[in-house]
Amino acid sequence: MIKRQRSTLSVPGHLEKMHQKALESSVDVIMLDMEDSVPTESKQEARKQIIATLKKATPRGISIRVNGVDTRYCFRDVIEVVHAAYEKIDSIVLPKVNNAGDVHFLSRLLDGIESELGMQYYIAIDASIESAMGVENLVEIASAPRVHSLVFGIADYSASIGARLRSMSGHGENEQEIYPGHRWNYVMSKIVQTAKAHNLLAIDAPYGNFKDLDELEKSAKISCALGFDGKWAIHPNQIETINEVFSPTKEDIARAEHILKAAKATPGRGAVAVDGRMIDKATVRLAQILVDSVKC
Ligand code: COA
Ligand code: MG
Repeated sequence: MIKRQRSTLSVPGHLEKMHQKALESSVDVIMLDMEDSVPTESKQEARKQIIATLKKATPRGISIRVNGVDTRYCFRDVIEVVHAAYEKIDSIVLPKVNNAGDVHFLSRLLDGIESELGMQYYIAIDASIESAMGVENLVEIASAPRVHSLVFGIADYSASIGARLRSMSGHGENEQEIYPGHRWNYVMSKIVQTAKAHNLLAIDAPYGNFKDLDELEKSAKISCALGFDGKWAIHPNQIETINEVFSPTKEDIARAEHILKAAKATPGRGAVAVDGRMIDKATVRLAQILVDSVKC
């Protein structure tokens, strides 16, 4: 199971050159795509190329994205690729999940493949929330079998609700001008809230303007502040910024360790003052989560 998922690089399945580049990168998870970055005429080629890449991939976080359950590609994406490279795949990104039934369909296919191969290992499902209906059904989706994370698919979600995008590149761009505050706050917070209530990861959409690293940093900081665990990248030059934003700083770690030490030194006290600030059990829990996240 993938432990740390600060960055996930989306890599078009049919482009071998990019696979190599992704394998050499410092990304936490490589997501080999068969869906929207692959043109219709290259769907079969993408499956073959992904299998070839996975055969030589060294252990690391690997996801594959299949086409949506309502397409004619989905079941073959799963059967061909998972069958051929089962032990190399940590999770499957299921796009455009509208309800728990979509997840059950994929989970049942995986049950069959696992049973045929006699595998005990378990492939997780990353449910991509990209429609008004998906948001409406978040709780049942989060409760469906194998779901490991909820992923925000901003471009398709925008299309689904009819929101006007200045560009299709994702939130963060000219946001203040378009809507004071942050217009994705509701849906992003809802995804985080549901994910955390079900012990899942929450992963944010990619930022499309890949040449603008300052805006990427802002976008990543917004999702990090809201409680997301990581963010997708669409270009290798975005990985470093995302990894940095979603990693605690040295100062954060030092402060958390200081808080844990202070709490330990004062047993029997619910709340104590540390450096002029109140810390209580909630603060200690936050500090412990941060220290633990560095260890994994
Ligand atoms: N994964 C791995 N390698 C990538 C990559 C990716 N997503 N995007 C670019 N690269 C590689 C290029 O192959 C190139 O390699 P080289 O230096 O060995 O030639 C290098 O990074 C620089 O690429 P660049 O020329 O800056 O990008 P581009 O103009 O060729 O492509 C995009 C730009 C946006 C089209 C491309 O990054 C891409 O296809 N991204 C993924 C899109 C995707 O997955 N969409 C679905 C996400 S929801
Ligand atoms: Mg999408």
